[in-house]
Amino acid sequence: MIRAAAPGDFPAIRAIIRHAFGRADEANLVEALREDGDMLYEFVAQEGIGLLGHIAFSRLPIERPAGRVEAAALAPLSVLPAFQRQGLGLALMEASLAQCRALGCKAVLVLGRPSYYPRAGFRADLAEPLEAPFSGPSFMALEMEPGVLKAGGRVRYAKAFGV
Ligand SMILES: CC(C)(COP(=O)(O)OP(=O)(O)OC[C@H]1O[C@@H](n2cnc3c(N)ncnc32)[C@H](O)[C@@H]1OP(=O)(O)O)[C@@H](O)C(=O)NCCC(=O)NCCS
Repeated sequence: MIRAAAPGDFPAIRAIIRHAFGRADEANLVEALREDGDMLYEFVAQEGIGLLGHIAFSRLPIERPAGRVEAAALAPLSVLPAFQRQGLGLALMEASLAQCRALGCKAVLVLGRPSYYPRAGFRADLAEPLEAPFSGPSFMALEMEPGVLKAGGRVRYAKAFGV
């Protein structure tokens, strides 16, 4: 089952992220995003009473002279090592991207493996017009509104990213 995360999930979410990445940095990022009020939403994958995966989206405004475009940063995405390669990561992305659309988010950006995120529709060429702290094949975008990123703009990552 994929569902929105609740505060009671936070300790288990920390454990999932730590196990998936093998370090605490990404779990600390998630907690800082929550504390700063920059978290948009989080989803978890649950089986029985246990949580197996987690995904987070934070505010990522794109600033242009003509105004601001509401976008989101997908980070991090984690699945417990023993449950990887069963489609949970993709299921988490699909459910949470639908939520992003429903909230009126115009685009989602991710910095990640170029062999993985295109499965959910992300493309590096869509992110190219943006002025951002990242570039190259790992910096990918998904447009909820086709063509919305063509006009470029400056991407403002939340403070917790430290970029
Ligand atoms: C990335 C991650 C969330 C994918 O979750 P998942 O549930 O295994 O993903 P899916 O089952 O939907 O997709 C499987 C694909 O993910 C990739 N993948 C999953 N586990 C992997 C692993 N241990 N090593 C390398 N690639 C892996 C492969 O491309 C795999 O495709 P394949 O089975 O056709 O080779 C998960 O591997 C993870 O938590 N990794 C550690 C944290 C991380 O790197 N997060 C992403 C940051 S960019």
